[in-house]
Amino acid sequence: MKISYHGHSIVKVETNGTTILFDPFINGNELTDLKVENEKPDVIILTHGHNDHVGDTVEIAKQSDALVIAPFELATYLEWQGLNTHPMHIGGGYDFEFGRVKLTQAFHGSSYSTDDKQIIYTGMPAGVLLTVEGKTIYHAGDTGLFGDMKLIGDRNQIDLAFLPIGDNFTMGPEDAAYAASLLNAKTVVPIHYNTFPPIKQDPEKFVQLLPEGQGKVLHAGDTFE
Ligand code: NI
Ligand code: MN
Repeated sequence: MKISYHGHSIVKVETNGTTILFDPFINGNELTDLKVENEKPDVIILTHGHNDHVGDTVEIAKQSDALVIAPFELATYLEWQGLNTHPMHIGGGYDFEFGRVKLTQAFHGSSYSTDDKQIIYTGMPAGVLLTVEGKTIYHAGDTGLFGDMKLIGDRNQIDLAFLPIGDNFTMGPEDAAYAASLLNAKTVVPIHYNTFPPIKQDPEKFVQLLPEGQGKVLHAGDTFE
């Protein structure tokens, strides 16, 4: 399995010939190394409807015929735009051919802002537990710190957690470090920082708040096995 980070909340997981892309916000993301025209994922997983997460989903899914997994209301909105979707909701898991996906809660908002200034309701925001090749990856999406992260940690052996550290819209570094302890994740990678001025953070400082060896900073394009 190959896992790579691409700036903001974009994570790519390549497993047994299946490419899974989380929150592909490419256009408007100055930190990413990805180009929309090069992305041909089999699966896109969306945590919530905000534009910095839905990003270029419609274009990428149309060019690659990807299956889009998202909270129900967001999946419905995208299905109406002609995409192949699989709706889910918080607390529910599903065994796909590539592995298991389960949505967890996240404390945040979820809506999509259109070019003509409409706000589309896209349900509840979510975190995602992805289990492939016997390993569990937790993508927290956008969220504040919440106590039930302990429940998520107790109920799942999390090998790798992607946690937002940007502050302002989500947890900041100190809350994210506390989240890492509640989740009891083996490895923690910070996301959702430095994309916009209000979420400027030093990811190395975040890693220093964690127990030795738990945190790992990935720069856009960094990959690990
Ligand atoms: Ni958001
Ligand atoms: Mn966001």
